Amino acid sequence: MTQTITVIRGDGIGPEIMDATLFVLDKLGTGLQYEYADAGLVALEKHGELIPATTLDSIKKNKVALKSPLTTPVGGGFSSINVALRRQFDLYANVRPAISFPNTKSRYENIDMITVRENTEGAYLAEGQEVSADGETAFSGTRITRKGSERIVRYAFELAKSTGRKKVTAVHKANIIKSTSGLFLDVAREVAARYPEIEFQEMIVDNACMQLVMRPEQFDILVTTNLFGDIISDLCAGLVGGLGLAPGANIGAEAAIFEAVHGTAPDIAGQGKANPVALMLAAAQMLDHVEQPQNAERLRKAIVATMEAKDSLTGDLGGTGTTMSFAQAIASRI
Ligand code: NAI
Ligand code: MG
Repeated sequence: MTQTITVIRGDGIGPEIMDATLFVLDKLGTGLQYEYADAGLVALEKHGELIPATTLDSIKKNKVALKSPLTTPVGGGFSSINVALRRQFDLYANVRPAISFPNTKSRYENIDMITVRENTEGAYLAEGQEVSADGETAFSGTRITRKGSERIVRYAFELAKSTGRKKVTAVHKANIIKSTSGLFLDVAREVAARYPEIEFQEMIVDNACMQLVMRPEQFDILVTTNLFGDIISDLCAGLVGGLGLAPGANIGAEAAIFEAVHGTAPDIAGQGKANPVALMLAAAQMLDHVEQPQNAERLRKAIVATMEAKDSLTGDLGGTGTTMSFAQAIASRI
């Protein structure tokens, strides 16, 4: 059966990096069919809505989307489109690999880890945010549930199992925030006990940050709550050379959306300067998800080989290539 994926070309550099990514996917011969759907500014102009119902229907039907960055207009009462998509499809797992590539500005060479961030609860609650009438005191809540913790930790262990990874580190602050972080850690221990073949480690978040900077090679899979995961996954992107190389997946039981971590880069949009690798790595995660792990690996290897050869790298990586010449150099190694 041919599988169809929803493709959202997005705003700013989105169309350029999507063209480059689809070019490389075609070279792989994935057999995937594409259904194009609009979101973001492009959708607002064409359909009067940031996420038209047809786009939501497409994702619902296909269950897999590859998405370029979207502009969330400032003001005008729009909440982030990405947050809206996560809520709509209950995309509870934010999965962010950080892998060392050759010839980056990173000072590390052997990083190969994945942050699994809980995406739906924790400190990022829309409700219950309060500022006192005199403006002197503010309050916000954190909600952790057994169900939310259980499914994210289970996701991390299942990911370890399916990818042959050896260790899962639960990052927490249960020593101080005993209620919420405590519940998360309790559940993490319970889930870990069901996976005796995979090493389980617990680490307090502040120590984890120091360890990540001092000795990042020690980590394999990190699993943590929403706020810590947001911060740690960006830290990890920085460790391997920045936004141009950082992909992310948002995964739920009913749908999964794969994207680059970076935004629409309006400063370089339309100039052929954007690095397409983050979206290509997101596409590799997508290939793993649709059970084409060999194609995912071929794509990652071609990216590594191209960076090794410094062939047509974009400006952010110190080269003089364009988005498309970089993609062609990668495709030629597939
Ligand atoms: P940004 O990630 O778009 O840009 C930050 C800096 O990194 C810029 O200098 C940009 O040129 C550079 N950069 C980003 N991606 C690059 C790439 N692939 N190759 C080379 N250089 C790259 O972040 P910013 O400026 O904060 O946000 C711009 C817009 O993107 C906003 O409208 C924001 O709402 C949106 N955004 C969308 C996201 C999404 O849809 N997932 C995520 C983050 C931001
Ligand atoms: Mg973030």
